[in-house]
Amino acid sequence: MSHNPCLEPLHPIETASVDELRNLQLQRLRQSLHHAYDNSPVYRAKFDQHGVHPDDLQTLEDLAKFPFTSKTDLRDNYPFGMFAVPMDKVVRVHASSGTTGKPTVVGYTQGDIDVWADVVARSIRAAGGRAADKVHVSYGYGLFTGGLGAHYGAERLGCTVIPMSGGQTEKQVQLIVDFDPDIIMVTPSYMMNIADEMDRQNVDTRKLSLRVGIFGAEPWTDAMRREMEQRLDLDAVDIYGLSEVMGPGVAQECLESKDGPTIWEDHFFPEIVNPDTGEVLPDGEEGELVFTSLTKEAMPVIRYRTRDLTRLLPGTSRTMRRMAKITGRSDDMLIIRGVNVFPSQIEEQLLAVEGLAPHYFIEVTKEGHLDAMEVHVEMASEVNAGDMQRAAQALQHRIKSMIGISTAVKPHAPGVIPRSEGKAKRVFDKRR
Ligand code: DLL
Repeated sequence: MSHNPCLEPLHPIETASVDELRNLQLQRLRQSLHHAYDNSPVYRAKFDQHGVHPDDLQTLEDLAKFPFTSKTDLRDNYPFGMFAVPMDKVVRVHASSGTTGKPTVVGYTQGDIDVWADVVARSIRAAGGRAADKVHVSYGYGLFTGGLGAHYGAERLGCTVIPMSGGQTEKQVQLIVDFDPDIIMVTPSYMMNIADEMDRQNVDTRKLSLRVGIFGAEPWTDAMRREMEQRLDLDAVDIYGLSEVMGPGVAQECLESKDGPTIWEDHFFPEIVNPDTGEVLPDGEEGELVFTSLTKEAMPVIRYRTRDLTRLLPGTSRTMRRMAKITGRSDDMLIIRGVNVFPSQIEEQLLAVEGLAPHYFIEVTKEGHLDAMEVHVEMASEVNAGDMQRAAQALQHRIKSMIGISTAVKPHAPGVIPRSEGKAKRVFDKRR
């Protein structure tokens, strides 16, 4: 029987009424709070200290009475202290290496792995993927959640997975050219790196079989979306997630609207809080994204502070709410002579300047008592020194007029800026 992708149904909850969704969330939230309180000594102690009990939750708004969880809680209970099931029920762990000290460890039961595969399958479906598609996965496999998370989801949807992982850029190109994948899942910065390698090999990036790019794990702008769609002739959509909450597939942008990731709210309950006071903010206001897991078994998270700054927006293609594209992490925010700047703002300006490549990093130093910022950029092609200076000045001017800060811009020849094979490092803050 031939396969008709248009008949692939959505999960009923994706198009349920808002009331149905809220009822399900309330019921699951109660269970999740009870599970955390009854089975995790860490959560029991936190709730007791805070003077709250799971029974205090009568409405979804009551969640605000409960204490936050942060990365520090995970570090303090390294490696397995946050688990709420016996170790023999944990079928997998992942870990993310922080910039300092111990990694953050997370665990999954078989049930968790199943839910994760379901939400990633749902995500790929929302991105326009269908059962018959071939999916090339260039997110790293291993302790990072990207590779295995994408892999299980693509298999769950019925796709053919090409588990390439990150790195070996020449081979990435070879497999993309020879295997004709329909979808690629990769960080946007590594996608650009792979596209450069295609140019080097004289592969026409607009003639590839790729139809959709599911890009995430790091911030990227709409300007970058336009750049990639143009260069690779595909639809670029945003996938969001974090290991503490699950991995990739916490939220996914729908192909038909491309208006920010839809949060799979039947499993992950979002709040936006004021990052300084912790006060819950109404939908539409910008603040720190906080998640409470509704169905996780091995490691429930209650009000986990993501550090990601965004807004909650009403559902469009699905019943669930969306999040605006992440402006940045509060940890990445640079304060340059009192002005708050995110690397994504620099990226947006950079992509508006003719002749610059989408590769950059930012160096921050102190000159006397003053912060000094230098943006390192790269030319899209070999040009003379005069053209390099003109491009650098154009960017400098844009940053000054659009963001309001004075920066130095250092232009480099093509290929000089270090390339990422996963998450790009955009900021080198030498003030600390
Ligand atoms: O990056 C999970 C993931 C893998 C998501 C593959 C998407 C695709 P962590 O390593 O724990 O997990 O890093 C999570 O990465 O808090 C954000 O700051 C950032 N991040 C993830 N997705 C996006 C995105 C994975 N689409 C941290 N846009 C998060 C902006 C993102 N930032």
